[in-house]
Amino acid sequence: MDGKKLVYLDSACQSLRPRQVADAIGGYYSDLGSCTGLLASSNALAARTQSLVSEARVKMARFIGADESEVIWQPNTTYGMNLVAMSLSSRYCPPGIRMAKGDNVVTTDAEHHSGLLPFWKLEQEKGVRHRIFPVGSGGEIDLQKFQDFLPRRTRLISVAWASNVTGIINPVEGLVKIAHDNGSMVLVDGAQYAPHHPVDVGALKMDFLALSVHKMCGPSGTGVLFGVRELLEEMPAVMVGGETVDDVSIADGPGGPKVSPRFRGPPERFEPGLQNFAGIIGAGAAVDYLSKVGMEAVERHEDGLTGYMMSRLADVPGVEVVGPQAYEAGKHAALASFRVRGKEGKLIESDRIARWMDEGVPGHKILLRSGGHEAHPLLRRLGIPELSTSRASLYLYNEEADVRLLIEALTKLRQLDVGTKNPGSPRAPN
Ligand SMILES: Cc1ncc(COP(=O)(O)O)c(C=O)c1O
Repeated sequence: MDGKKLVYLDSACQSLRPRQVADAIGGYYSDLGSCTGLLASSNALAARTQSLVSEARVKMARFIGADESEVIWQPNTTYGMNLVAMSLSSRYCPPGIRMAKGDNVVTTDAEHHSGLLPFWKLEQEKGVRHRIFPVGSGGEIDLQKFQDFLPRRTRLISVAWASNVTGIINPVEGLVKIAHDNGSMVLVDGAQYAPHHPVDVGALKMDFLALSVHKMCGPSGTGVLFGVRELLEEMPAVMVGGETVDDVSIADGPGGPKVSPRFRGPPERFEPGLQNFAGIIGAGAAVDYLSKVGMEAVERHEDGLTGYMMSRLADVPGVEVVGPQAYEAGKHAALASFRVRGKEGKLIESDRIARWMDEGVPGHKILLRSGGHEAHPLLRRLGIPELSTSRASLYLYNEEADVRLLIEALTKLRQLDVGTKNPGSPRAPN
């Protein structure tokens, strides 16, 4: 770009895509472009689209250890988490699993905004109390403290598997056990974990897992909500309309004719209207790609690279890593957030850092993310009142050379004193 080589360190936001995924998306638009449908009731293009879309669901199900009926296509993690919150609190949800006034939902204060706001809304609108477990000063969850914290009538516990700020991988297995011993359901926000590690929802006994396929080589605006079939069977639709029903009739009722829908089972009940077929087919291609590489290999590669990045960052004067300082395999995601102090000890604004990495490095554009990472309560807890850090995140295509370029640039940046923080800065961008 602009005659410079790109060093992409922003995969925690969206990953880059392999050619195979772009081809799958393009193939849908150039060769098919149609609705889905079974051959008997439809046409040849629709039948082909149907088979690709159905295959993609099966591939995704195998990839995360689920049954295909447990994979609901969503635009992203955020939608998936909202779906769980809204469906479980619907008045049509059976009492055994319903969240009603007086019940509790527990999250930590280290969640992404998408892991907080669906439950804030429940409290505002439905009187379900949102109880917030305070993580430790470095962003960690102490399982014993978490267990002691759980209030009675906790229906749901919702936690991020990995933090998009500190990189901490939370002890999800322990959290699921605590939740189930307590009679609570568990929703795991897998946005930052699923792209980087093998996932088996069955082995971990999760009730729900939300993930974003655009963070794992898939098309923008594709995601999945996994839900255990027995729960999904009982949960009512949230958004309703075509494709969610087998039949709709209108019959006389009190006060005039009434609509009477017969809803389909999961997952279709939760996928209203015409779906993102190009995206779903592209998601299938992303799963094929990652499966071929092997998630164990992805994990191994990132293990080495993240360890290298963290140890090199620790040596750059003025760089302060946020959260755990040392890398521990299995406990840390492939990212690091950090602040940088200039020679005089003043913070350099993270958006200035990002801009300089983009424009000021000879021969390269180093693409970082800067801002509050949609996790402002966590940044406040970590003592970052400016609500902004720089973040470098890695994926299977990154190499040590990328990290070396980042380290060289950070070292140089500090010498240049690119610009220190404006103490009056009223609000950080996200
Ligand atoms: C931990 C975490 N949860 C949820 C989300 C929301 O993902 P999306 O914007 O794809 O819905 C993100 C996005 O970065 C995230 O990092």
